[in-house]
Amino acid sequence: MGKAMEKKMILHVMFLLVNLLFCGVNGSKTGRKLESGKESSAVGDPGMKRDGLRVAFEAWNFCNEVGYEAPGMGSPRAADCFDVKNSSLIHRVSESDNRLGIGKRFKGINPDVVNRPDLYAVEKELYLGSLCEVSEEKSEPWQFWMIMLKNGNFDTKTSLCPENGKIIPPFITDRFPCFGEGCMNQPTLNHQPTELLPSGLMRGSFNGTYDLDIDISKGLGNASFYEVVWEKKLGSGNWVFKHKLRTTPKYPWLMLYLRADATKGFSGGYHYETRGMLNTLPETDFKVRISLDVIKGGGPKSQFYLIDIGSCWKNNGKPCDGDVETDVTRYSEMIINPHVTAWCSPKDLHNCPPYHITPDNRKIHRNDTKNFPYGAYHYYCVPGIAQHLEEPYSLCDPYSNPQPQELVQLLPHPIWGEYGYPTKPGEGWIGDPRTWTLDTGALASRLYFYQDPGTPPAKRIWASIDMGTEIFVSDQYEEAEWILSDFDVILT
Ligand SMILES: *[C@@H]1O[C@H](CO)[C@@H](O)[C@H](O)[C@H]1NC(C)=O
Ligand SMILES: *[C@@H]1O[C@H](CO)[C@@H](O)[C@H](O)[C@H]1NC(C)=O
Ligand SMILES: *[C@@H]1O[C@H](CO)[C@@H](O)[C@H](O)[C@H]1NC(C)=O
Ligand SMILES: *[C@@H]1O[C@H](CO)[C@@H](O)[C@H](O)[C@H]1NC(C)=O
Repeated sequence: MGKAMEKKMILHVMFLLVNLLFCGVNGSKTGRKLESGKESSAVGDPGMKRDGLRVAFEAWNFCNEVGYEAPGMGSPRAADCFDVKNSSLIHRVSESDNRLGIGKRFKGINPDVVNRPDLYAVEKELYLGSLCEVSEEKSEPWQFWMIMLKNGNFDTKTSLCPENGKIIPPFITDRFPCFGEGCMNQPTLNHQPTELLPSGLMRGSFNGTYDLDIDISKGLGNASFYEVVWEKKLGSGNWVFKHKLRTTPKYPWLMLYLRADATKGFSGGYHYETRGMLNTLPETDFKVRISLDVIKGGGPKSQFYLIDIGSCWKNNGKPCDGDVETDVTRYSEMIINPHVTAWCSPKDLHNCPPYHITPDNRKIHRNDTKNFPYGAYHYYCVPGIAQHLEEPYSLCDPYSNPQPQELVQLLPHPIWGEYGYPTKPGEGWIGDPRTWTLDTGALASRLYFYQDPGTPPAKRIWASIDMGTEIFVSDQYEEAEWILSDFDVILT
């Protein structure tokens, strides 16, 4: 195999790993419903306008677990939630709550999880959710926006991640980035609790690095870095979330998203109960509104997602139930970095979904070279446990999720114009800040997702909607920077 080919193969395999995920839902459809004809929202804080902010933080290892905690940081879950009374901010989550980690008990914890980092984090999130929960008239309870950070390093000698949901023994490969023992570590977390500045601006932040060995008193240098700063003028405007993410050769694959997850049940990519912002789970009739200003792109490997949606159902169409060997995470996202091009082409049909469905519901098979919109699909991969696949196909990475996954990645293309998505490379990218109103429900209902033949179509209930970037194994130092606001999920 030639070098170029080998490189391509490696990239290809790496790509399969892609992550992100999202999953399941078995929550019922409940939430804010207004009089007919009026728009209603599926999120607790439509458009990010509420002074009393609810925002949380979570960090994941390669398969959406904790693995082991970073020394002195506690379990990688934290929150900043406060109410505003007479112009002062009354915080609901203390810094000792945020530092809770294995060995430490809190109200309601199951004693069996006290020393188990993965399970501890799940219960800590529910606990933080209980402190942050907002219960208002006419709306189902909700908890927080979720800032999600993920480290793509995978040490295959650890057995920390399953294969398509099955526990497997350690193995040796060089297909995944890992600088050696400890490469799957959790990051440091600094929290600046939201404060009201004399100017009337409220501001808070989370930041940190994966490089646990640096002497931070000497400055960050060129270590890995993430940061999210939130700001809003008291009494007016919207929260704006300013994100930064920096990869390095030691941490070449990092992801940072702002998520609206389900307030109960499983969200996309989790096999456990979560807390979030979506107090109604959208199906087909919904739009996503969001303002995005990309300042730095994060280099050619940065798969910037406008937007990513996640769900979970079994190959027989039934809803997920937490059985990681048969639940399948499904997700789809549009990548707006113009450096990322289509891997799907007439010569690479294995990277294309079997068919495309037009807005007027015509199916175009991928072998219809005259009509199939190859340029609209970056990559499609099938779940590793599918039994009735149409050749040729590409299998999704089996390790980067707690359960098998399926992935449909889109690119800006004229055929998506109908749904309000970008139609040309560069739209919405650096220097082109926009407020998008995306007909995500209509688009998602026309995407191909695998199901076993003859099974009733799955109900596509989207339990996670998020935006951010996945810098996907860069051999360079890369930095991405973007500002997000106005996030809403509008039920139509
Ligand atoms: C509100 O805050 C102001 C300034 O600190 C104070 O003078 C006033 O008494 C407070 N009002 C109430 C109702 O607490
Ligand atoms: C991270 O946030 C802290 C406040 O919590 C701030 O003092 C520090 O400068 C930030 N780090 C960097 C590298 O910006
Ligand atoms: C990062 O730091 C190392 C060691 O200090 C230095 O050799 C390298 O040039 C730096 N890289 C960048 C991109 O600044
Ligand atoms: C295209 O694929 C469909 C479905 O597999 C098949 O029925 C058809 O014969 C194929 N057409 C060509 C020209 O290969």
